[in-house]
Amino acid sequence: MALPNGIVESTHELLDAQAHVWNHIFSFINSMSLNCAIELGIPDIINEHGKPMTLSQLVNALPINKLKSDGLCRLMCILTHSKFFIKAKISEDGNEDEDGYCLTPASRLLLRDEPLSLLPSARAMLDPILIDPWHHVSEWFQNDCSSSFVTKHGMTFWEYVGVEERFNRMFNDAMASDAHFVVSVVTKECKQVFEGLKSMVDVGGGTGLVAKGIADAFPDLKCVLLDLPRVVAGMEGDKNLSYVSGDMFESIPQADAVFLKWIFHDWTDEESVKLLRKCNEAIISSKNNGKKVIIVEMIVDDKKEDHEATETKLFFDMLMMVDATGKERTEKEWAKLFVAAGFTSYKITRVLGLRSVIEVFP
Ligand SMILES: C[S@@+](CC[C@H](N)C(=O)[O-])C[C@H]1O[C@@H](n2cnc3c(N)ncnc32)[C@H](O)[C@@H]1O
Repeated sequence: MALPNGIVESTHELLDAQAHVWNHIFSFINSMSLNCAIELGIPDIINEHGKPMTLSQLVNALPINKLKSDGLCRLMCILTHSKFFIKAKISEDGNEDEDGYCLTPASRLLLRDEPLSLLPSARAMLDPILIDPWHHVSEWFQNDCSSSFVTKHGMTFWEYVGVEERFNRMFNDAMASDAHFVVSVVTKECKQVFEGLKSMVDVGGGTGLVAKGIADAFPDLKCVLLDLPRVVAGMEGDKNLSYVSGDMFESIPQADAVFLKWIFHDWTDEESVKLLRKCNEAIISSKNNGKKVIIVEMIVDDKKEDHEATETKLFFDMLMMVDATGKERTEKEWAKLFVAAGFTSYKITRVLGLRSVIEVFP
């Protein structure tokens, strides 16, 4: 079969290509089906049921039009295919032949009361505020806006969260849910990163949950959280944690270490070098031999990764381009930033799944 460019393909290859295109046209259906399940509270309903839940039990328990059970069956079908639910035989009440839906490790992470729940992240990322800019990416390529977010909303992401309280709360909740995740891993698996430090500033620490988790895990470490005035307004410190308002590009309080989680990926290389120089200034007068900058971020382009991990990192990279001015970086790109900002060495610890802890030394 001849393609327009003259390449002769077998029917098999052509049909594979057609399936590939269809799959990508409709990939958004995965996200939107998940969004629907979250909005309806399906993971919590199945969890509260305590055993495999049949479709009719699910229809009865959900606040939906009972005539739409066929639609629910189809929604559960795609979400079972994408491993958010599994089907198990029900072995009681004489219903041996009927299947019931159970949770999987992925849907357990979408439960409302699960301590490490990603539900707030899913809610924020799938909100129309963040979905709409995707319809403006090609327009952004042709205009002078800094991001598609600006093209769509007429202001930057950070300006938007400053004026739109509903979305600001959603975004903070998303960051807070990730904070629980990161604290639980770094305080267990990366103790050595913090041991020996007497003081640390969490730059752009947001809700303060990471700083609080680290301050609790290391009572001798004096932690300061620096964020914008509207973020730290009303926050009250305790024992070894205090809050400071300011602009990280202007000045960072002095400490043995500066900690930045999910900050650099929001910013361009030029902005990141400027911020790294400020971090360097903050630690330079410390007498601690282990003074350093501690970064929690992704490192892309790791050849050992599987397809899904690489794709997820590429999703994040596009997300940073569409909603902010930043990017996800390869190890080489990180190293270039560190050298440009006057640092001499760095150490990567891969303990956080798709993200790493990067220690950077002056
Ligand atoms: C993506 S959030 C990360 C929050 C937190 N580090 C975390 O991972 O949970 C970025 C944070 O940077 C803060 N931020 C943005 N611009 C800032 C600036 N110029 N100075 C200080 N903080 C800033 C935001 O308010 C926000 O809390």
